[in-house]
Amino acid sequence: MDDINNKNDERGVSRRNFIKGVIGSGVAVSSANYLFRASTLFSQGAASPGERLITLDVNGQQRRVDVVKQETLAWTLRYKLGLTGKKLGCDRDECGACTVLVVDVPLYSCSVLTHTVRGKKILTIEGLASPDGKLHPVQQGVIDEQGFQCAFCMSGFIMSAVGFLKTNPNPTRAELAQGVSGNLCRCQDYDKILTAMMRGAENMRKVDHA
Ligand code: FES
Ligand code: FES
Repeated sequence: MDDINNKNDERGVSRRNFIKGVIGSGVAVSSANYLFRASTLFSQGAASPGERLITLDVNGQQRRVDVVKQETLAWTLRYKLGLTGKKLGCDRDECGACTVLVVDVPLYSCSVLTHTVRGKKILTIEGLASPDGKLHPVQQGVIDEQGFQCAFCMSGFIMSAVGFLKTNPNPTRAELAQGVSGNLCRCQDYDKILTAMMRGAENMRKVDHA
């Protein structure tokens, strides 16, 4: 019985710590699923607050943020820095909805620990357009071809395509399909998406040769 009470106490303390952590970091979490996961995440943070404060280079800005060592980049970007353009789909390295560029390489941010990318250039969909608001050529390709249905997968596809086009700016359709094959679309709109990405590649070449 004592054991049970002790366990309940431990759970109570963890929950109180979690609530304090959420309030302290200004995190707004609406999903019950993520609340559950967050309670686990925050309660496991053993380092002191000073040790957890790191600087990330996101979209050309230096952002100070308090992270725990098990925290993923997807979580930090979305719930700590308010960058909700990339999506959380599977949250386990399968769908690509959370793709961001880290030093120009597309990565699933749900599978990258935040502290491992401190000091590295992180680019999210929010940082893709020019400072004057002009869309990136790949974003413009989506507009030109009216790609995507619900668009939940869109930012992931765009970031993957942008990363791939840095290594192969003039791909065949098959090569580009291979390049973004780590991204899934639950609407199964692949043909139209690929057409939009090909238009984006064409737009990029025009900009590069202008
Ligand atoms: S949410 Fe990251 S791969 Fe699906
Ligand atoms: S357009 Fe709906 S998930 Fe891709």
